[in-house]
Amino acid sequence: MMSMETSPSQTIDIEALSFTSGAHLLLKRALRDLPAGARLGVRASAPDFAVHLRGWCREQGHGYLEGDDRFVAWVVRGASAHGRWRQAERAGQADPRENDAVRVAPPADWGFAARGAAIEPGGPAFYYALQRKELVWAENVQKLYAQAAAAQWNPQTAINWDEPFLRDDVDKEMERAVAQVMTYLIENENAALQAPARFIAQIHPHFREVLQLLAVQIADEARHVEVFTRRATLRGEELGLSTVSGRQSLKTLLDEPDFALASFLLSVLGEGTFLNLLWFLERHAPDPLTRQIARLVAQDEARHVAFGVGHLQYQLATDPALRDRLAMAITRRHEALSQTAGLNEEVFDALILLAAGSWRPEDIAAGYARAQTLKDEMYAGRKARLEKLGFSGVEAAELSALHTRNFM
Ligand SMILES: [Fe+2]
Ligand SMILES: [Fe+2]
Repeated sequence: MMSMETSPSQTIDIEALSFTSGAHLLLKRALRDLPAGARLGVRASAPDFAVHLRGWCREQGHGYLEGDDRFVAWVVRGASAHGRWRQAERAGQADPRENDAVRVAPPADWGFAARGAAIEPGGPAFYYALQRKELVWAENVQKLYAQAAAAQWNPQTAINWDEPFLRDDVDKEMERAVAQVMTYLIENENAALQAPARFIAQIHPHFREVLQLLAVQIADEARHVEVFTRRATLRGEELGLSTVSGRQSLKTLLDEPDFALASFLLSVLGEGTFLNLLWFLERHAPDPLTRQIARLVAQDEARHVAFGVGHLQYQLATDPALRDRLAMAITRRHEALSQTAGLNEEVFDALILLAAGSWRPEDIAAGYARAQTLKDEMYAGRKARLEKLGFSGVEAAELSALHTRNFM
């Protein structure tokens, strides 16, 4: 038996608290900072407390010594107590700015554990296809998530649905053109919602900011579907045409199983091209509502593009060979779509009419020229983004030209 005189000791008065009412919390707290072998004198008045304390000590790996007049018992701090904590490994740090906070290759069996948690060893096997940092991360991911969370807008209040149009006798054909463009946009938004959603469950939750950003991105697309639908039907129009070639183009996005290639085709090239389209609508749409909607949606899309570019820059820094795979992905998609009709003619005609603003021949000519300029701007925007990913000017020009004629 150890000497009562030399080991450090502490005492605690549990009063009438029993083990069925939480006495273990006070005991654990009192034992937490004691070294192994130190004793805790326990005073307590609940019935049969000593019996329960003895059982608890055995369970927790502490020693138990009979008490005397003053104490019910002495608990001797065990060496293996809190074993679950002693063997636990830290899963990085919660704050991504801390050193080594985000691991390059977190073990899959950390599962859903919070980043920064102490991980008890063992447990079920998880599998994440996207388990390495360079496969998902971007230097700007934390900043983009903060911006995305702050910039969420309410479709009901952010848009003045009651704002009167300039001309009260709204041109029926102009309104039909708006509905056709909206129909096309909704179809593209559906693709932009589902394509990244496929990957969310493949990303290791350790990369928390990436999951958060993609989750908000998907919520953005949900709002876009809503506002475009609402605008399309606002004046009683029916929705427009969905073409085979549009669906062929968008299906290739959903079918792409590689996260890097899918983000490249969808976010860098597709959503990048859509930025120009939305800016075009912001400038040329005939009514204030459509212009307002286009402006709000473009703000969101700019973030989606920024993450796609940021992530691929990050991955390319460790894997420059990815650049060839990106180029091949454009070429492959171009070949797969080469026999298709490309952009819905109804959509392009609608864009010309919206930019014309009237059926007067000189206005149609101006609208036509603006729609051609839009295509040039789309091409130049893609080329600039490809150069950001390290493609040469010549390569970027060539690849930009191979992008789907459906825009997305
Ligand atoms: Fe969108
Ligand atoms: Fe998007």
